[in-house]
Amino acid sequence: MTQDDMKKAAAEAALDYIDFEMIVGVGTGSTANHFIDALARVKGKIDGAVASSVATAERLKKHNIPVLDLNDVGQLAIYVDGADEATKHLHLIKGGGGALTREKIVVGASEKFICIADYTKLVPVLGKFPLPVEVIPMARSFVGRQLVKLGGQPALRTGFTTDNGNLILDVSGLEILNPLELETLINQIPGVVTVGLFAHRPADVLILGSETGTQVYTA
Ligand code: 5RP
Repeated sequence: MTQDDMKKAAAEAALDYIDFEMIVGVGTGSTANHFIDALARVKGKIDGAVASSVATAERLKKHNIPVLDLNDVGQLAIYVDGADEATKHLHLIKGGGGALTREKIVVGASEKFICIADYTKLVPVLGKFPLPVEVIPMARSFVGRQLVKLGGQPALRTGFTTDNGNLILDVSGLEILNPLELETLINQIPGVVTVGLFAHRPADVLILGSETGTQVYTA
């Protein structure tokens, strides 16, 4: 079984949480893509989807799943997305695909966050995966210096602009023992749009695909 097969298994398992007349928030990345493909099979059941990126909106539209503007809908029942790292406390690092800001917005508007991943994403402590931080372009150097003061080594994601026209700094060298505190500290740096730590709003359910089936962790 490949890592991609395990991502697919987790994505398929998330279909159990989809109910009639739901508006579904949809994340970004290869695992979220598997979920979109699975969602297409039950599209008659749902009222539509809110996308966390341009790429996700395009994939949903290809499946003829109605893509709704977040401004035109109320609270979403559910948000389904992958992660780059996850702990058993359901704290996450996200943003490997650069969609962290819109992902955090759609999560914030959703009642339940179902995180789907393969088991290799489960870690005891967050931080081995470089932490993505979306920054306003003119603040890049300033924010970089502040991140160094917090113990990180920021690197500009080259040749990449977010859907919001901003840059990503990928911060390595962090051992994130207190994700709640670090999320607050980084979000307070002027010029930071969002940090890819999802601790203040963790997942509610974590579904991990593995060779022996799917494991489900809940808050
Ligand atoms: C995109 C994300 C993704 O959920 C994360 O990068 C995981 O990606 P994949 O499902 O391809 O492993 O946060 O911004």
